[in-house]
Amino acid sequence: MPPVLVVEGLRLYYGMGKDVVKAVDGVSLELDRGEVLAVVGESGSGKSSLGYAIMRLLPENAVLYDGRILLHDGGAEFDIVSMDEEALRRDVRWKRISMVFQASMNAIDPVSTIGDFIYRIVREHRPDLDKRRGLAAAAEAIKSVGLPVSVLDMYPFELSGGMKQRVMIALALILRPLVVILDEPTSALDVITQANVISLLKSLRGDVSMILITHDLALASEIADRIAVMYAGKIVEIGPSDAVLTSPRHPYTGALLESTPTLRQDRALSSIPGRVPSLIRPPPGCRFHPRCGHAMDICRREEPPMVDVGPGHRAACWLLRT
Ligand SMILES: Nc1ncnc2c1ncn2[C@@H]1O[C@H](COP(=O)(O)OP(=O)(O)OP(=O)(O)O)[C@@H](O)[C@H]1O
Ligand code: SF4
Ligand SMILES: [Mg+2]
Repeated sequence: MPPVLVVEGLRLYYGMGKDVVKAVDGVSLELDRGEVLAVVGESGSGKSSLGYAIMRLLPENAVLYDGRILLHDGGAEFDIVSMDEEALRRDVRWKRISMVFQASMNAIDPVSTIGDFIYRIVREHRPDLDKRRGLAAAAEAIKSVGLPVSVLDMYPFELSGGMKQRVMIALALILRPLVVILDEPTSALDVITQANVISLLKSLRGDVSMILITHDLALASEIADRIAVMYAGKIVEIGPSDAVLTSPRHPYTGALLESTPTLRQDRALSSIPGRVPSLIRPPPGCRFHPRCGHAMDICRREEPPMVDVGPGHRAACWLLRT
């Protein structure tokens, strides 16, 4: 079976006055049916932009958007970058691929009940459903995320943060998509609520393919089958979670692991010196070179290619050339 999603050479640049922000700069990845792929990286590395680019939800100041995104559903193939906007809206977005936006739980309409809020959104995509059937679909989705149906009659202020996040996940699942992109689904929640949402995501594993965007490697290690590490608009390492976490091959992945408390309880934590570079003028060669303790001359001049470092495991670093 082909992967449900294939992304090749995806780029999304934003205009900022005379400057161009290269937020997603040549990203390639694949997602199998029922698989969870975590995309990890520091703030500003382009993770949310990658999610928006895959959904083709582009801000007004997008100045470049190209590459290929193929979504496979049975025998049907949808080419998200180049397909007609109307067909994208009708056949793909939300129906086959949906997204839980970063901090979106604060965007629930405060003056509607949860049921009306969900029904309004369902109606946009399934005008064939009357209110009774729309609310029945909403009830089913609400139950699937472990909430009581009575939530449909409640207003957002009556719900805790964790319940609101579950409502947003229910909304993303309501049209039974093949792929859901979850952008930092737990980051605004307290620890106990986080644990609840994590167990919800675990229970959904296998039914739906997920791209889990997070700066939290511990969360990625708990849920994901594979991990993609993003740095300054690019994927620098991708592979099975175990391999990436236990034998990281890119120095940036190693540094991220060293700075993650829950994964390194046995050792002193270290922080990564410096910060994510400006995506307006990213460093030449390897974008990590100003912060890398192993940087060589070639790193400052030439971009390292992605190379195979193990089964399904790839990384882009000049130290890995054979
Ligand atoms: N519409 C926009 N116009 C210009 N620059 C943008 C726009 N949206 C994001 N950026 C910039 O693009 C870069 C990548 O941003 P993005 O939000 O994708 O990163 P992120 O990895 O999701 O970060 P975080 O972990 O903080 O959510 C950042 O430098 C950000 O400031
Ligand atoms: S290519 Fe060079 S600078 Fe980049 S991570 Fe590898 S060693 Fe460090
Ligand atoms: Mg983000």
